[in-house]
Amino acid sequence: MALEKLVVEGGRRLHGEVVVGGAKNAALPILSATLLADGTCDLGGVPRLRDVDVLARILGVLGLQIERDPLGRVQTRILSEDASTAPYELVSMMRASFCVLGPLLARRGYAKVSLPGGCAIGDRPVDLHLKGLRALGAEIKIEHGYVIARAQRLRGANIYLGGPTGCTVLGTANVMMAACLADGTTVIEHAAVEPEIEDLANFLKAMGASIDGAGSHRITIRGVRRLEGCRYDVIPDRIEAATLMMAAVATGGELLLKNVDPTHLEAVFDKLREAGVSVARNCKTVAVAAAEPLHEVELNTLPYPGFPTDLQAQMMALMCTGTGASVFTDRIFPDRLQHVSEFKRMGARILNVNNTCVVLGGSPLQGAPVMASDLRGGAALVIAGLIAQGQTEVRRVYHIDRGYEDLEGKLRALGAVIRREADELPEKPPAV
Ligand code: EPZ
Repeated sequence: MALEKLVVEGGRRLHGEVVVGGAKNAALPILSATLLADGTCDLGGVPRLRDVDVLARILGVLGLQIERDPLGRVQTRILSEDASTAPYELVSMMRASFCVLGPLLARRGYAKVSLPGGCAIGDRPVDLHLKGLRALGAEIKIEHGYVIARAQRLRGANIYLGGPTGCTVLGTANVMMAACLADGTTVIEHAAVEPEIEDLANFLKAMGASIDGAGSHRITIRGVRRLEGCRYDVIPDRIEAATLMMAAVATGGELLLKNVDPTHLEAVFDKLREAGVSVARNCKTVAVAAAEPLHEVELNTLPYPGFPTDLQAQMMALMCTGTGASVFTDRIFPDRLQHVSEFKRMGARILNVNNTCVVLGGSPLQGAPVMASDLRGGAALVIAGLIAQGQTEVRRVYHIDRGYEDLEGKLRALGAVIRREADELPEKPPAV
């Protein structure tokens, strides 16, 4: 894969309007759920992302035909159910693909899926996923880095799925998908309540599943014999929307966002308003503007409906432009701080005490070459580049491409000076 970088000229004020894309974190489990369907699924709002491409390759290995039509809608159809192994080479590229486990097990009675391993934001355990599937009667072994799961017939159960930091989003998705074809009723207690889980449940119900309580901490699934392909549209991406809001406000600009569900962003609006940002919304649009110099906030990330961990880095970039001292603690992924050292290279003054970061505003950022190490941290570095004096090069753009469709194009349309270039690696130094 040729490495690329985004080159950003700072100091331009962003303004205008943007249409938000479909939610990556809804599209990925929904695409996995098409493994459960008899017949064709027709999906709208599936964003063009590297993560979607990787999952599509895995689903292709698992016998699914996936095509995107000229209108951008994605159609899936099962061609073969012989293969049930999701290989390490692909699963390790995108850990959310672990959520093919539940549907494969429920539909085919056997699944071999690589353990996803960790990633840049910290350890990514799957113990709760396996606990839930075992409760449904699956026999699960871990051999040579793979989860091997077998079940002649899954049977409904009462499952408590709460973890050390609250709920598991994809764990809830895996168990809910498997329970749809189990014999009897399953109750998932302390289920994740993210909008993406509710969207997955709505998709499963459109296929004929019987689910109550999605979006609450108690989800009840009554097993059915089969699920039919259907037409469905994925919800808007609340994380992309908020990332763009923060980018515009960080430059002292304003932005009108279309195709947004404001009810998914109440905690974000609350924190932005606390910082001094003007936020106006109606049922499908949001308008934000930098109303005054931003003042300090204290931010803890929490499971939904709390402030999302996926916006922690972007908010930190925004608060580098503020006055006063802002305090950040990521309660979901405490190590999700790779962006901090990069911000410091740009002149940010940030103290890190036991994974609580204090951002001392008031010092202007200077453009610099920086390195993305995860998708949200990469987007945060672009925001920092937009507000820095001079030029910033954000390397390893493939991290950003995992979760943002044409980020630079959307920002350029709002007035940013940003371009994508090949990133020539330095010649290998001569051996000494
Ligand atoms: C989802 O990941 C999202 N990914 C992440 O977004 C998001 O950061 C995360 O939820 C939290 O909101 C997708 O939806 C594809 P979790 P997921 O299981 O489901 C612990 C992005 O930027 N845990 O909810 O993998 C875990 O250690 C990505 O788009 C267990 O202990 O996260 C963490 O502390 C990054 N055991 C907490 O739960 C388990 O079996 C939340 O993890 C599973 C999780």
